[in-house]
Amino acid sequence: MQLRDFIQQAEERQWVEHVDTPVAPDEGMVRLMYRAGDKILFFRSRWNGYRVISGVCASRRYFALAFGIDERELCAYLVKALESPAVPPIVTAAPCQEVVEEDVDLEALPIVRHTPHDGGPYITAGIAVVHDLARGVLNAAFHRLMRLDRRRFAVRLVEGRHTHSVWASSTEDVPVAICIGAPLSAQLAAAMSPAGGIPEFHIAHALAPTPLVRCLGSDLLVPAESEIVLEGRITHELVDEGPFIDLTGTFDIVRKQPVVEIDRITRRRDPIYQALLPGGPEHRTLMGMPREPTIFAAVNEVCECLNVWITPGGASWLHAVVQIRKRRPDDGRRAGEAAFRGHGSLKHAVVVDEDINPFDMQEVEWAIATRVQADRDIIIWEDQPSSSLDPSAKHIPGQKARTAKMAVDATIPWDDEKGPRHPEAFQRFRYE
Ligand SMILES: Cc1cc2nc3c(=O)[nH]c(=O)nc-3n(C[C@H](O)[C@H](O)[C@H](O)COP(=O)(O)O)c2cc1C
Repeated sequence: MQLRDFIQQAEERQWVEHVDTPVAPDEGMVRLMYRAGDKILFFRSRWNGYRVISGVCASRRYFALAFGIDERELCAYLVKALESPAVPPIVTAAPCQEVVEEDVDLEALPIVRHTPHDGGPYITAGIAVVHDLARGVLNAAFHRLMRLDRRRFAVRLVEGRHTHSVWASSTEDVPVAICIGAPLSAQLAAAMSPAGGIPEFHIAHALAPTPLVRCLGSDLLVPAESEIVLEGRITHELVDEGPFIDLTGTFDIVRKQPVVEIDRITRRRDPIYQALLPGGPEHRTLMGMPREPTIFAAVNEVCECLNVWITPGGASWLHAVVQIRKRRPDDGRRAGEAAFRGHGSLKHAVVVDEDINPFDMQEVEWAIATRVQADRDIIIWEDQPSSSLDPSAKHIPGQKARTAKMAVDATIPWDDEKGPRHPEAFQRFRYE
């Protein structure tokens, strides 16, 4: 489903707030985006011909709508897409190429400056597409882009991510296409890192039909129904990038990062620019949700996993709740260990039984309160590789950050293979 059809369906469900007065892409717009929470905000008054949308990925229910499924089925649906990718069709005429601008002027786009402390205005919902020749696949991933002038950005490439590996292993400019306003299927897939050399857009097409089109200046393929595509090259010139508010809501530091030069803009006739609030619900949902199926798969290797939730309170990156169907005394502990294999940046995991709603933190805390003995059910691993986003981790320049990790087994304790001696003592009475 293309983004504008999704917006229309969301409007029918009263999920969209409209702003009809003109708003410049600055802190005034940011304030409205912040206040909207996880609602979709549609700035319908055109700025240089662009309307602006924010929050389209801010809630799980938006993805459920786009994929035509129930919200609670999302994790299983993503697991299925990862197991059964689908090759998207390539079309020759595409909405994202209705207008071609060879005279590039990035200052004409409503690229938002989010705080006075930022290094500049940032594209925050741009999917960077590159050919990964070493793996023989087309790679798609979100990368923030700080506008430098009319034709150039600084791009943040985290070391170890595929776009970074492609760039670091080449001495030449790397052709890149940056897609803005892509269908939700493509956005979610670009936030995933499918194993085994599967291109992200094959996952996208398994989630919902996502046709591709060839770029005009390269053989890169992009979602045909995107709103805007910036065609260009990642160069080897380095400039200061940052500061920038990151996922945890804290400022990321200034680093030397590559310059991207844009050669051409292709877009729809009446384009909608997607602005994503850094550290807001849209950023958090897009970061956290794609790690749920990988945790699910890792836990499922050691016991039966029922659901996974990367919680917003844990910055949608560092905390997970894992729900299992316990069959052996040590399943809770094994599930906790496995969760960290499924998401390398995970810091704390809580494992619950099937009678606990993993999406309700009150219930999860109740399980911790009534089923956990700290000296028995908490496992701590010291000095583990960590997310660079955790300010409390040990950060040594040039090295991977280090952290302690913790799993909490909040499942009902079993005495032996037969189960708990007094299961009734652990059941929660629920009034009808
Ligand atoms: C909204 C958003 C912004 C992101 N910004 C960046 C970024 O600036 N740099 C980066 O390296 N990763 C960023 N990421 C994370 C990557 O896009 C993500 O980890 C992706 O799965 C990497 O995939 P790959 O290594 O398989 O290409 C961002 C993710 C989201 C959802």
